Parts: sequence; structure tokens; C-alpha cells
Amino acid sequence: MNSDQIRKTYLDFFQEKGHLLMPSSSLIPAGDPTLLLTSAGMVQFKPYFTGEMEPPHLRLTSSQKCFRATDIDEVGDHKHLTFFEMLGNFSVGDYFKEEAICFAWEFVTKKLALDPKRLWITVYLDDTQAYDYWHDTVGVPEDHLYRYGKTDNWWGPAGNEGPCGPCSEIHYDFGLDRGCAHVASPKAIAEWEKGANHDAQPGCHPNCDQCERFVELWNLVFMQFSQDINKELAPLPAPNIDTGLGLERTVVVMQGVRTVYDTDIFEPIVTCVERLAGIKYGDDPETDVAIRVVAEHSRSATFLIADGVVPGNEGRGYVLRRVIRRAIRYGRMLGLDMFLAPVAESVIEKMGKIYPEIAEAQKFVLQVLQQEEEHFGAVYEAGNARIVEMFNYRTEASEKLSQLVSSDWDIVNPSTLAKYGLEPESSGQVLAHEGLLSLKSSAENLEQGIKSWLREISGHEAFALYDTYGFPVELTAEIARENDLTVDMSGFKKEMETQRERSRAKVEKFDSDFDVQRRYEAFIRSTFLGYESTTVSSEIVGLMVEGIQSDLAVEGQVIEILLKETPFYAEGGGQVGDAGVIETPEGFIQIIDTQAPFTGVISHHGQVVRGKVAVGETVVATVDRDRRLDAARNHTATHLLHAALRQVLGNHVRQAGSLVAPDRLRFDFTHVSPLSDQELRAVERSVNEKIRENVSVSKRETTYRDALADGALAFFGDRYGDQVRVVEVSNGEIYSLEVCGGTHVSATGDVGSIHIVGESSIGAGMRRIEAVAGRAAEAMAREHTDLIDRLARQVESSPRELEQRLAALNRDLSQLRREMALEGRETSKREAARLLSQSKEINGLNVIVEKVEVSTMETLREMCDWLRDKLSDGVVVLGAVVKDRPSLVVMVTSDMITRGLHAGNIVKAAAREMGGGGGGRAEMAQAGGRTPEGLEEALRVAEEEVRRQSSEG
Ligand code: SER
Repeated sequence: MNSDQIRKTYLDFFQEKGHLLMPSSSLIPAGDPTLLLTSAGMVQFKPYFTGEMEPPHLRLTSSQKCFRATDIDEVGDHKHLTFFEMLGNFSVGDYFKEEAICFAWEFVTKKLALDPKRLWITVYLDDTQAYDYWHDTVGVPEDHLYRYGKTDNWWGPAGNEGPCGPCSEIHYDFGLDRGCAHVASPKAIAEWEKGANHDAQPGCHPNCDQCERFVELWNLVFMQFSQDINKELAPLPAPNIDTGLGLERTVVVMQGVRTVYDTDIFEPIVTCVERLAGIKYGDDPETDVAIRVVAEHSRSATFLIADGVVPGNEGRGYVLRRVIRRAIRYGRMLGLDMFLAPVAESVIEKMGKIYPEIAEAQKFVLQVLQQEEEHFGAVYEAGNARIVEMFNYRTEASEKLSQLVSSDWDIVNPSTLAKYGLEPESSGQVLAHEGLLSLKSSAENLEQGIKSWLREISGHEAFALYDTYGFPVELTAEIARENDLTVDMSGFKKEMETQRERSRAKVEKFDSDFDVQRRYEAFIRSTFLGYESTTVSSEIVGLMVEGIQSDLAVEGQVIEILLKETPFYAEGGGQVGDAGVIETPEGFIQIIDTQAPFTGVISHHGQVVRGKVAVGETVVATVDRDRRLDAARNHTATHLLHAALRQVLGNHVRQAGSLVAPDRLRFDFTHVSPLSDQELRAVERSVNEKIRENVSVSKRETTYRDALADGALAFFGDRYGDQVRVVEVSNGEIYSLEVCGGTHVSATGDVGSIHIVGESSIGAGMRRIEAVAGRAAEAMAREHTDLIDRLARQVESSPRELEQRLAALNRDLSQLRREMALEGRETSKREAARLLSQSKEINGLNVIVEKVEVSTMETLREMCDWLRDKLSDGVVVLGAVVKDRPSLVVMVTSDMITRGLHAGNIVKAAAREMGGGGGGRAEMAQAGGRTPEGLEEALRVAEEEVRRQSSEG
């Protein structure tokens, strides 16, 4: 069976057992801020298990794309993967242990026809129930049934919180020849598990990590608990089943091969790497590791990018960057350059049928990979060179330092170290040197400090590599490991923290989350009524005067005010906060901004412009309607823009951020290359067409899952509660559907029009469009027309003829310039002829020393040239003030050089007089100065110098 057949057999089997087939969800867990990437099949079903949401069916099955960052550094061996597919069957409060165990056994022994003798089972220590099902119901013999503790037989939660429970696993046995020892009995292992000494295992066993005899195929989790962030367990509403069967491992077993790289899943990818590198897989253990890393990481990067992750310096973007950069490093070992895109193509070819999203995003995936590879090429060279320097410096220093070990830290300063020949030169050496000095504060004594420096890259060094060269610390650690060194990770983290502190300090008014929380603790949450109305009567529930909680505020004070109900929209989803006024019985407040420091808390920022206001008073709060409507126009325009971009550029376009203000909008999205004029026009046209169609913009409340199931786009950066608002632009056919809490117009015609004003790059794989809509678009059109009118008047033309007129003016201007230059040359020739007639004789030389009027240095040189050619046996010195600067050119005819005349020396002597310097060759030299008044004197000095040189000669 090939991998596609195995996947299908599994999904068919469970559908026959009454399970509903669910599609794989994205690698970016939707609406789950506790989890970086989808790490298991159950991730998308979490809310069903916790009872937050109704499942579409109580029995579910899926083949889920998964990514686990924990194993990145292990990839390259035979079994670890970052990306893998997990086959799963799930019961939401329906069947439990017995059926789960029986289904699994039936599948592996009947459908996959695996030999039961090769199957070994593990259960959680005190899970007698599971043990009995395996033993009594299924008939697994006692000597194949093992008990393990929490590390091996407890699963979850995925992320910081969520469902979890004891689990039971099916392991496959490749046979004694792959084992490290004879198998220890279940009893011996259970005792060893309970015991304190975990080092010396009593023999080989299903979870043995000394050899590759056993592989864990299938994990059956009996989800009974929900764990909160404090690790407290609470029972779930009903016991559930979550199972995960690793597809890649199953394929290894079924195809009777040794590793996943020999299966049909990886075969075409490995072949592609082999072809590019001209190296055969299997020839050399070292290149084999590199081939595996390149193949695996290219595959996972392809899937991550297709799901909208782009390389970055934090979160998912950083995970992707690590994977890509690690692949590049190993690619280099194979002599490969710019190889990621072709390898990704082979991945897409192999898997694009099962996961069409990677085929759809092909162009984007390849572009992102190419860009990152180009970018990292330089980073890698630079960073790697520094690391090599750090290593070599240590080796060289080790002996010299041994002379110091009996001293103490006082002697460790740059100058005494230099005496011992420890003087760093290259920047890598400097870093290593600083690393040694940085240990002064942490090491107990010098000897210990030197010891640890010799075997460990300090946090200081690792951080410098990261900060200056963008070198991922994990990569530094990996390279260090290969050279038998370690990296001080906690020192690195400390440096990171210090840098964060520094940048935090820069933000003027920084409040830690905790402080903010405390400040608003006393306030109850406000109800937002702004979707329906812009004026609301309500009550003041909180006041803050200059950041301090208060019951009363008076005229002139800058305040924050909280109301029980409010029509004011607090900044969120990119849309700016509302402005307006709040009237109280005895006061009047101007509101300039509205913020939500916490979910549900709506804080109005403003000033008491009249009277006084107090907590408990009734108010009438009124939003500035024009401003709000302007923002709404821009917000709806943003959704239309998003839809148009996806239409024109492709579905890889995803929102990466936005700003919706009354007077403009900004939309950041994933896309690699700059948009062509044509593309930009097409996008703008599409949006304006939709505006003119005056399609209805409807809003409704629904659950987050249902919204996504309907195909709504959600911004992954936003957290959504279970109930979300969906904004739909549709005339029967959906044009745009987004999860969004912002305010919108009710039909697209209300937007008026949109006008794109700019498009730019904001980082790898990320673009930004700036645009105006509504009144701002109108104002901009008017402004541009007025400008054109004014320009036309200035050049005595009409807007219609402006372009032609400007072209004609330009032509005239060039013509005039040419004529003037010609004339200037003529004049200077005439002037030169005059000068020639006035040449004087000094010591038998013909000498011209004159100040002339020219406008460029070029003309000055030309005049000089011309005079020298006409002059025999002579020297020409010309001075002029060119663009406010005094300048000199000196030329000596060639026969006079032999008489000792030197243009460079003449200029040097003269230039001082005009506040400048200069020099040059014997036959020609020039100088510029700063004081034009000194020019006359400079000419006089030049003449004197000629006289002196010629008399000496
Ligand atoms: N959640 C479990 C795992 O990931 C079973 O699917 O192993």
C-alpha cells in the first residue's frame, strides 16, 4: 500500500464505523491563542471536548496536518519530523475506552494485517480498565502489555490549557536485530518506572530510547480532564476519545523499509535533493543527514507558508525561519545554493493532490523560499565566519590562558590579557574575548570562568550573533554542538530580556499589563451599543483623572471616563476609536479617543471642557457621526480591498494587519513581489465596481467555528470569543466574508469610491497598500484637480494641454541649455585668445596667470587646455570663482617639466591663500578653496612660485 492508500483505508474504516470525515484544519490554530501551531488532530476539536461548542457529529475522523517545533534539532536522524500527518478518530462523549481499543486493534490487525506478535501495548500505570480491555477483550498477552507513568502514558493539553487524560499506545516491533538488549518484563519495567533511578533500564522495552527496535504507532487518549494554566485538573463534561496514528510511521511499517525517507512519501523529494546535489542518498552517513534535513524542512516550510506563515522574528514566523535557515545550512553542506524552491516544487507535486492549498499557493511558497534563501545567504556567511573565529580564538587562547588559571579575575582586563598575547582582531575574536570578560560577574573564580568559556559560547556571544547577524540561537547551538561546545542559553535569554527592557524603556508611557489591569479592576464592563445607535443615555461607572481613579472631575481636567452603556467604538480590528461628546447634568466632556484596555472595558479619553462630572451621574453620550461614518466607509473599503487582492493576486493573500482611520486606510498582507501598475489598477477597479454595484453589507452574530466553516476570513492576529460578528458583502453571491467587530456602512455604495495612493514592501513576503475612500477620496480627487489647474495656469496652458505644454517647455529648456553652452564656449575661446596675446615672459618662459569668468570647472580646464596647446615653453595658471568657490587650474607644457616646473607644487603653494588644498601631477593640477577673496592673492603666489621654479631650473 502506498501512503495515499493507507490514508484512505483509515478514513474509510472509521467512516464505516459511523465517523464523520472532517477536513484537516490549518497549521495555524484558528482562534487558539494558547497554541503556536497545530500539533495534533484534536486541536480543531478542543471546544467540542470542553463542551463549549456542539460538534457536527459525535464520532469524527480526520487526517490532520501537524507541526511540532520541539523536534526541529533532531530532524536529520531516521525518525524525527517537524511536519507530519496524523490520522485520528474522535468520540465526543460517545464511545470510550473499550470501543477505541477494539477499533484500533481491528484496524491494525485486519485492515493493515500487521502480525499481532509484532504489536506491543502500553497503558497508564493505574489504568486497570484499559489494561483489562487489551488483555481480556482483545486478547493481548500479558508479556506484551506494559505500564508507564505520566511521561509516556498521559497526553495533553495541547498548548497551555485544555483537555487531557491517560493514554494507551500501540508500538510496532521491528525485531530483535534492531534492539539493544533482551526485552525486560512488564513487571520489571513497571517497577523501574516507579523507582527513583531512571538511568539504568532493566532491558529493552517498547519505550526504549537506546535503540530503534520499537516505534510508537498509535496513541489512544482517554480524555477525561481539562487542565487550566495553573495545571489544575477538572473533569470534562463527558469522557472523550482522541486518537492519533502517525501516517509516516505507519507507511514505514507497511512498506517494510527502514526509515520514513525510504517511503513513497519522501522518495520523490529525496530524489530531487539527490539530483540537485549530484550526491546519492545512502552513500555517506554525513551527507545522508543533510539530505534528510533538506527534504524534511522543505516539506514543512512548504506547508507552513501555504497556510499563511511568513518568515519573521517571533512566533510562527520565527519557527518557519528556523526551519528554512536550518535547511539552508545543511543544503550548503551538500554544495547547494538556491535549492529550496525546486525542492518545494517536488513536495507540491507529491502532496498537492491531497492538500490542494499547497498547489494553489505554489507561486507564493516558492517566492517566499527564494527570498529567504537569498537573504539568509549573506547572513549565514557573515555569522558562520564569526562563529569559526570564536572557536579558533578559543583553541588558540586555551594554552595562553592556562598560564593564568592560578591568578584571579583582577588580572582579566584587556591590557593584561594583551601581555599574554590575547589580543583579538577580527570581530568574531572580539566577541569571544568579550564573552570571556562577561563571565567575570557570574563565574566563581577565574579558573572556573576560563573552563566554562573554553567549552561554552557565552550568552553575550550568542546574543551578538543573533542581534547583529540575525543568526538564530538554535543554529549557533547546533554548530557549537558539532564542535563539542555548548551555548549558555540562559545567558542568551538574559541578554534578550535586557534588550527588551531597553526597548520598553524607550516607549514613553509604558504600562505593564498587570498595572493596566489593576487600574481598571474596579470598573465594570461596558455594553457597546454603537452598532445600532450613535447617541445613548447612560451612567458614569468610572472616572480617571490623569491616570488616577477618582469620583469627580472638573473643568479643564484630562480624564478617562467609563459608562455603563456606550455608543463609542473602542479602537480594535485596525479601526481607530470614536470621538464625540458626553454631556452630564453639570458638565460637558469632549472625547478625542476611545480605547479598550481590556476585553469589555471601554474607556473614553477626553477633557472636561465645562462644569464638573461625577461617578453615578447620568449622561448622554454622542459619537461624532461624520467621523464615525468616514471610518466605516474606510473599513468596508478595506474588506473590499482584501477581497479584490485575493481575486487579482490569488488566495495566498491574507491580512497581516490594518489601520482604518476616518481619513485613510492601510492594509498589510502576505504577498512576495511588488504589485505591477496593472495589478494595482485591477484591484482598484474591482473595488470601485463593487462600490457602484451598491451591494448590501450585512452583519450577523455567529460562532467562530461556524463563521470559518462558512468560509469567513479571520485575522489570525486577533483573538475572537466564541461568539463573533461576521460582515458579509453579498448580492446572493458572496464577494467578501470576514470575521470583524468593526463598524461598517450598510451598502457598498455608501463608500463612495476608493483611491489607492501607495504600495510598498514591509518585510519579507509582506506588502502594504495605502488608500483613501469616501470623503477623503473625494477630497484627494479635488486636490489633484486643483493642483493641475494651478500648474496649467502657471505655464499658461489648460489642464487638457498641460502635458504637451510641459513637454514643449522641456524641449525649449534643453535647446536653450545647449545654445548657452555653445555660446559660453565661444566666449571662453575669445577670452582665451585675449589672454594668449597678453602672456608675459618670466625667466624665458611664456606665462599666463589670470582670473577668468566661467561657470564650470570643465570650462576652466578647457580654457587651460586650449592655452597650453597654443603656448610653447610655458605655464598657464587660471583662477575662477565657480559656484561660490575659488578654483585654480595649472598646466605646464611638457618641455618645461624637464626644466623643473611642477604644476602640482605651484597649486599647492597657491591654494593655501584661498583656504584650500590641492595638488596633482607635474603637467596638470587643480585646487579648490573656501575663501573667494583669497583668489587674487593665490594667483600672485602662483606667479611667484613659477618665477622661483624657473629660476632654479
Ligand atoms: N492527541 C494525541 C497525540 O497527539 C492523540 O491524537 O498523540
